[in-house]
Amino acid sequence: MSKNIIIALDFATGDKTLQFLDLLDPNLCRVKIGKELFTASGPQLVRKIIDRGFDVFLDLKFHDIPNTVARASKVAADLGIWMFNIHASGGRTMMEAARESIDSLGNQRPLLIGVTVLTSFLKKDLEQTGIHSYPEDQVSKLAFLARDSGLDGVVCSAAETKLLRSQIDDKFCLVTPGIRRPEDAIGDQKRVVGPAEAIQNGSNYLVVGRPITSADSPNGALIEFNAAVSSVNQTLN
Ligand code: C5P
Repeated sequence: MSKNIIIALDFATGDKTLQFLDLLDPNLCRVKIGKELFTASGPQLVRKIIDRGFDVFLDLKFHDIPNTVARASKVAADLGIWMFNIHASGGRTMMEAARESIDSLGNQRPLLIGVTVLTSFLKKDLEQTGIHSYPEDQVSKLAFLARDSGLDGVVCSAAETKLLRSQIDDKFCLVTPGIRRPEDAIGDQKRVVGPAEAIQNGSNYLVVGRPITSADSPNGALIEFNAAVSSVNQTLN
């Protein structure tokens, strides 16, 4: 089982999160903790979830001066997380410092992932920050900068995956949110793709929130997502 599904634990409290995790098998998925839950429940909750056997993606998107990001990265890595992320727009020196700070953990180190252009950004938003490029060009530029700075991959939208995979080597990891089955509500996502299509387009990990967290049977929904992914994995392998 290749565990390509990362469930976004977008809950307000640690108790709700742990109740939800009671329903899931850590051999069938990984999980993502973002800013809301981490701010509410902190490293203690992260440790509890890891103790239950789940691989944790800590989605805190660090962006600061290199020394600060490096120190925060080492503290995050020491929690025993599986993956975390930083903003690629923080620049090469910041990304290299983050990578160096976790290298001492050897093959126990978490995967380090870059955030390129937020999907909420349109061309006009980039212009307002002084960047006169199309979002997709800026995404590619930052993905290559992340790779050359020692990062393991980037978060990219469903719409960006195919192009990015055609440009960048297979070992570079693509993590994709905005995944929906035909029967799922789209919610506030703008462009979505199905789980099988996302893997076919070259994503390695799919971040799925509400289609699983709000399902009548979260475990049933997870099994369906896994089945869709493994049907493609079998043809790709
Ligand atoms: O519920 P849903 O499947 O839309 O959740 C997607 C998760 O991925 C959320 O935690 C959201 O913050 C995250 N995400 C996203 N789009 C991005 C980056 C992260 O939806 N560009």
